[in-house]
Amino acid sequence: MAFQLSIIVPTLNESGNVQPLLEKLDRALDGVAWEIIFVDDDSSDSTAALVRRISQVRENVRCLQRVGRRGLSSACVEGMMASSTPYLAVMDADLQHDETLLPAMFHKLMQENLDIVIASRFAAGSSLGSFSSSRERLSRVGNRLSRAVSKADLSDPLSGFFVLRRELLEEVVHSLSCKGFKILLDIFASSERPLKYGEVAMRFRERHSGESKLNVLVMLEFIMLLADKTFGRFVPVRFILFVMVGLFGVLVHLSVLGVCYKLLHVSFRGAQTAAALVAIGVNFYFDNQFTYRDQRLKGVRFMKGLLLFYVACFVGAIINYSVAISIFRIGFWWPIAGALGAVVGSVWNYGVTSTFTWGESKRPAKTNVKLEELAGRSTSGAEFGQGS
Ligand code: GDD
Ligand code: MN
Repeated sequence: MAFQLSIIVPTLNESGNVQPLLEKLDRALDGVAWEIIFVDDDSSDSTAALVRRISQVRENVRCLQRVGRRGLSSACVEGMMASSTPYLAVMDADLQHDETLLPAMFHKLMQENLDIVIASRFAAGSSLGSFSSSRERLSRVGNRLSRAVSKADLSDPLSGFFVLRRELLEEVVHSLSCKGFKILLDIFASSERPLKYGEVAMRFRERHSGESKLNVLVMLEFIMLLADKTFGRFVPVRFILFVMVGLFGVLVHLSVLGVCYKLLHVSFRGAQTAAALVAIGVNFYFDNQFTYRDQRLKGVRFMKGLLLFYVACFVGAIINYSVAISIFRIGFWWPIAGALGAVVGSVWNYGVTSTFTWGESKRPAKTNVKLEELAGRSTSGAEFGQGS
């Protein structure tokens, strides 16, 4: 029988939660034809290998491993697009979402003929469990901002637990921004019509094993999503971040120049060279942390990227210089000539580095946990021996 429901579970180092989650779902969804797709962003704890091992003995378990990619939203979207079932659910791997709500959520979706049903931490009757108060405040601020872009009065627009119809996904998929971790908000903001939605109250449980991946940097992704949904049509948000990092680089450049030239009495040429080298390095570091957070380079790839970044920026500087000089020579006022040179140079830098420095990567990260240590009860070696 074909599966009716796909549960999409994004994972990043969740190996300790895979087996317990499956056991809970087995109990909660008894009698339902469901499958589960773990979308793993190349976890270093062998989550993907564990899932694949389980899927050799359970046909309703699948693994979608992404390499050189990051991001909760895009992981959920790709997981949903990799399935064909008429109904979809998205939930976290860490057992914070109460799986026993799933039947009620589906019941509501069908009974009330809704597009989507959300498990809300803020609906009447819900509870945040032992949520820290600062975390709660963060959530509430986020909620208020989100209500503005979602065009709906959701009590928990940041929820990561919901069920929807495939028709809705197909309707919005081409407009999704897929940035950051706010997939639900993205779906609402990308729909051209008001969605028919319902909410069920949920008690947000404690994380089972491992640790949370949503930290302060994730808030930046959230702001990027909001920005993308408001003015992203005109200028890519990534370019704006790139320019902001670049402006910060100018400050770094001037500081290093000042220290070397004025305090250390290095020649101007030497001081300027040192300043440029430091500033470009700092720019690279921050672009890697923020602008390209979802494609962050590490280890050897970080070093290679840095070298390439130096080369690209060097060429960018020559272009900047040539453009500025030619415009200046035609008789334009010097600030205009200088600024145009800088703009063309930045666009060059952005174009080259976004394509080559942070382009798609191919090499998987090293895994450091022995598979044997992870293999759970249902995937014991014996089952592997039985060929068909
Ligand atoms: N594939 C993939 N890629 N999975 C990820 C990534 C990523 O970049 N980042 C996090 N995950 C997975 C985690 O492994 C986990 O299964 C799930 O996404 C949620 O991540 P947590 O790190 O547990 O998030 P949280 O508990 O702090 O946040 C929860 O509450 C937020 C609201 O405050 C989540 O439910 C969020 O979706 C929700 O917005
Ligand atoms: Mn969690």
